[in-house]
Amino acid sequence: MKITVTDREGAVHEIEGRDGWQVMELIRDADLPIKAECGGCCACATCHVYVDGGPTDKLVPASDEELDMLDLAFDVQDNSRLSCQITMNADLDGMKLTLAPE
Ligand code: FES
Repeated sequence: MKITVTDREGAVHEIEGRDGWQVMELIRDADLPIKAECGGCCACATCHVYVDGGPTDKLVPASDEELDMLDLAFDVQDNSRLSCQITMNADLDGMKLTLAPE
């Protein structure tokens, strides 16, 4: 499975999806610039991404905890998510994301 990530310069990267991994971890391990300062604990919002396409209907909705943290993020849009709160699985194959501004 793959996901597609557009970086802040507009370059598109296809990266390998690993079942059970946080999407933040996939982005970070692909050496894309994502801070993820809290290490995936839903406590920093520096893993903010926009979900642009793919199987968006298969995404687990954001928890109250994630929504509270997104309130503190910049440039939040309707399709904003914290990538540490999205767990990769086969249903999300083909998901398209864009890194939010830092
Ligand atoms: S890595 Fe900190 S909220 Fe996702």
